[in-house]
Parts: sequence; C-alpha cells; structure tokens
Amino acid sequence: MKYEKTIRLKDGRACLLKSAGREDAAAVLEVFVLTHAQTDFLLSGPEESPMPEDQEALYLQAKKDSPDEIEILALVDGHPAGLAGIGRIGSRLKVRHRADLGISIDREFWGLGIGRALLEACLERAREAGYAQVELDVVSDNDRAIDLYQKAGFVEYGRNPRGFLSPVSGWQELVLMRLELEGQTLKERQK
Ligand SMILES: CC(C)(COP(=O)(O)OP(=O)(O)OC[C@H]1O[C@@H](n2cnc3c(N)ncnc32)[C@H](O)[C@@H]1OP(=O)(O)O)[C@@H](O)C(=O)NCCC(=O)NCCS
Repeated sequence: MKYEKTIRLKDGRACLLKSAGREDAAAVLEVFVLTHAQTDFLLSGPEESPMPEDQEALYLQAKKDSPDEIEILALVDGHPAGLAGIGRIGSRLKVRHRADLGISIDREFWGLGIGRALLEACLERAREAGYAQVELDVVSDNDRAIDLYQKAGFVEYGRNPRGFLSPVSGWQELVLMRLELEGQTLKERQK
C-alpha cells in the first residue's frame, strides 16, 4: 500500500511519513538496527542480524505493491527516525480479517508525536484494506507503548507470562491487545 504525509512535530520540525519501497532499504535497516539496540521491548535483539539490504529492498517493495500490507518510514530532515507497519496475520480465509501491527521510533525522537502519527497512518491503511481487527503484543512494562495503544482504542484481551525470554531481562510478560475495525463484510473479504 502507499502512503505519504508530512506532519508537524511537537518541536516544530516537519516529519515525512512515507510508505517504504526498495529505495528506502538502507534507511529502514538503519532505523531498525538502531531501535532494536536501544530497547529490550522488541521481538528481536541487536544480536540477531536483519535481512541483507537487497532482500530488504524486495521485501519493502512487495509491501508497497501489496493491497493490504505496508511499512511506513518516518523521516525528519531526511534522517530515518521511526518505522511502523501493518501485516496480514495469515492468508487463510478464516484469518484474513486480522492484521498485526509493529512500531519503533529512534529514542532520540521519542515524545515528539511520531509514534502516534505512525500508528494513525497504519490504522488508516488497515481500515482501507478492510481488516476487521488489528492485533499486537506488547511487553507488560512498556508503559509508553501501552499508553499509546490504549489512547488509540486498543484493549487487552489476555497475557502471556512467558511471551519473550530475553538474554538481557529474562522472562518478559506480553500483553495481548486488539482493536476492532469495521472491516469488510464476509462476502467482500472472500473475494
Ligand atoms: C512506544 C513508542 C512507539 C512511542 O513513540 P513516540 O514517538 O515516543 O510516541 P508519541 O510522541 O507519539 O507519544 C504517543 C503517546 O505516548 C505516550 N507517552 C509519551 N511520552 C510518555 C512518557 N514519558 N511516559 C508514558 N507515556 C508517554 C503518551 O500517551 C503519548 O500520547 P500524547 O501524544 O497524548 O502525549 C516509542 O517509545 C518506541 O519506539 N519505543 C520502543 C519500541 C517499542 O516499544 N515499540 C512498541 C513495541 S509493542
């Protein structure tokens, strides 16, 4: 899916939110590696290498060309500051209405409104794609993220006490959250 919008950050700077394609592979990898080293709240850690750049380029372009998936890159003065995306949970008929969401911002840019803007952009595209539910898992002591999700209407539907086993902090409990969207009718979704 495609997206492009310029927003004004809380400190007055402009921030471009754009659907990442093949040309953004290096920038996306840069912010991915950085954010995954800055926090222990994400699924993969700095010890796990990301995709090589040529594979990342193919992955991003496939998302950009997809009718229901997207990775959105936030750029401040051309500098990659954050990343968020919506992906299918699965392609089987019974789960086609469900999407998952991921988001990470460079710590240097926290608190400026990028997280909220990226989340809103992802939800806008999720609605357009016809999903009926967006889901995510968040580490239970990640207060910033939980606050952000609750403000957007996500509700907790369970917990997984041994969701992550982090080399840094050991067991991490995951809060399972979901947001209902209007979605398409079953017939539309089966097409
Ligand atoms: C969670 C995260 C995405 C928030 O991004 P951000 O750009 O700092 O968010 P925003 O500036 O848009 O703030 C959004 C909300 O976060 C919350 N927030 C901001 N600062 C906060 C603080 N100091 N304490 C608690 N919550 C805070 C507020 O609810 C804020 O809402 P507001 O706009 O009404 O003030 C970001 O901190 C991040 O990338 N964290 C590391 C990766 C991560 O944990 N990702 C989520 C995995 S599930």
